[in-house]
Amino acid sequence: MSPATWLITGASSGFGKFLALQALQAGFKVIGTTRDVAKAQSQAPDFGAKGGIWLGLDPGSEDAFEKFSRVSEEHGGIDVLVNNAGYAFIGGVEDTSEEEVRDQMEVNFYGPLRTVKACLPAMRAKKSGNIILISSGAGFIARPGRSTYSASKFAIEAVHESLSQEVKPLGIKVLIVEPGAFRTPFSARIKSPAQHEATGGYSEAYRDTPVGGMLNSMRAIVAMDELPPVIKGDPEKAAAAIISAVVDGHDYLRLPLGTDCVAALEDKIGQLQSDLDKTRAVCMAMDVE
Ligand SMILES: NC(=O)c1ccc[n+]([C@@H]2O[C@H](COP(=O)([O-])OP(=O)(O)OC[C@H]3O[C@@H](n4cnc5c(N)ncnc54)[C@H](OP(=O)(O)O)[C@@H]3O)[C@@H](O)[C@H]2O)c1
Repeated sequence: MSPATWLITGASSGFGKFLALQALQAGFKVIGTTRDVAKAQSQAPDFGAKGGIWLGLDPGSEDAFEKFSRVSEEHGGIDVLVNNAGYAFIGGVEDTSEEEVRDQMEVNFYGPLRTVKACLPAMRAKKSGNIILISSGAGFIARPGRSTYSASKFAIEAVHESLSQEVKPLGIKVLIVEPGAFRTPFSARIKSPAQHEATGGYSEAYRDTPVGGMLNSMRAIVAMDELPPVIKGDPEKAAAAIISAVVDGHDYLRLPLGTDCVAALEDKIGQLQSDLDKTRAVCMAMDVE
């Protein structure tokens, strides 16, 4: 039997790179997307050398659905799709332009949606397949200054939560991965409000608020070797955990990764429970008499 085919978006760096290399190592056929093949080849030379296939494709572009559909056909269908490509826009709600929100949604929301829709026909025909979304703890928790990033991840998580129930009867599995802070170049590549670029990415009114604090801490990271010790996650361990989840046939929808993420999720679940406890009497008194 031929090995399963993995398609990983954003395979040039971070989680995508380690996933691509480890999936190759495990004997799978691996296709990795990047917006710039020449740059990707220099950033991850082992990938091509070990048989990985580079694909110059931007999931955030409007013609990505047609291109991914062709790739799926050419390779006899994708067995494991990993929607990984993404970036974070950090900025206060008031300071962020609509265009900046749209750009974040094109990459983090419409990108994965396009690839999922392109890969589903062949997965349905085979009655099998794995769809993996690299979301974030920010897909469940919206911190100050992270509204745009969280909106994109909440929205795409909603699609995958719904999809998991739609395609379960068709033999297709869905996994939502929620990493905490991991040591990849991601934090050094954040975008922030262009109109406030000169003043740290926030307007004067937000300087001494959590928005200013968030931007000051994130923008201080300009390179991988400047990642603060508070960012503890090892992306190679994350890649290994994701591959094991697929190979072992996971029976859960969400896979949070990292000690920080577990603590944050437990805190948010506690807040949800507390709100429900405080409002239960009102909630329960809404039926028509
Ligand atoms: N690192 C963390 O702490 C962390 C935590 C939670 C979630 N995540 C999520 O993990 C995923 C991967 O991030 P990473 O940490 O591995 O970061 P990374 O090292 O910066 O890699 C991001 C990948 O996404 C692609 N990408 C970035 N911006 C893009 C854009 N505007 N359009 C299309 N593709 C773009 C890049 O591909 P090319 O440049 O080659 O096209 C790159 O390979 C993201 O979805 C991110 O939200 C990361």
